Amino acid sequence: MKTIVISAPGGPEVLHLLEVEDPEIQDDEVLIKVAAAALNRADTFRRKGLHTPPPAGSSPYLGIECSGTILAVGKKVSRWKIGDQVCALLNGGGYSEKVAVPAGQVLPIPPGVSLEDAASLPEVACTVWSTVFMIGRLSPAETFLVHGGSSGIGTFAIQIAKYRGARVFVTAGNDEKLAACKNLGADVGINYKTEDFVARVKEETDGKGLLQF
Ligand SMILES: NC(=O)c1ccc[n+]([C@@H]2O[C@H](COP(=O)([O-])OP(=O)(O)OC[C@H]3O[C@@H](n4cnc5c(N)ncnc54)[C@H](OP(=O)(O)O)[C@@H]3O)[C@@H](O)[C@H]2O)c1
Repeated sequence: MKTIVISAPGGPEVLHLLEVEDPEIQDDEVLIKVAAAALNRADTFRRKGLHTPPPAGSSPYLGIECSGTILAVGKKVSRWKIGDQVCALLNGGGYSEKVAVPAGQVLPIPPGVSLEDAASLPEVACTVWSTVFMIGRLSPAETFLVHGGSSGIGTFAIQIAKYRGARVFVTAGNDEKLAACKNLGADVGINYKTEDFVARVKEETDGKGLLQF
């Protein structure tokens, strides 16, 4: 199969297409024929040689999420079958034609989302859900502040927090980014380069404050 490799740490010019062996699946894994892979900030850090190496035993190639069609399933996998269209959170290997992934990191394509768009869901959805809702336990009555509101993580956090009924504040580095956050549902936008966000939050919440993310 073809994959993207890094010739040496650096800019986008160090990315090269290379023919490599197909991945082999373990009993608890599925093999995905990749339709699309997303670009995360973590990928750019890894390209520059600034990211921690992937966990032992995982794909050495780039790409931490993808979507595609299941080509093969391991002996212990019952949740998925060949031909299923899925997206997946990966330890690596998304920038490849095929990737092996533990079945527990695979998700169905949500209704109304294209196969290509679904490649960008697992990282932000799992990160935001686990931190904001499982650990932070954000409730509909609460107010929530998203720093870096226009980031990949931020844009997902705004939408799901609004959907769940919270009041959402965001910070961003310019007014264009704040307008994009408002379009996604943010209630209050704060340009942290021109305003003191602590003072503004106190003002908007009658001094009560809020949950920060
Ligand atoms: N993507 C994921 O799935 C994921 C998963 C786990 C953890 N994270 C963490 O979540 C955070 C956001 O990740 P992301 O992938 O969503 O980021 P992103 O889309 O690349 O956005 C990063 C944001 O950070 C702000 N920023 C501040 N200083 C910056 C600088 N020097 N260079 C570039 N951006 C700068 C920018 O907003 P302003 O201009 O408004 O400051 C920018 O929009 C990161 O800390 C990342 O490690 C991400």
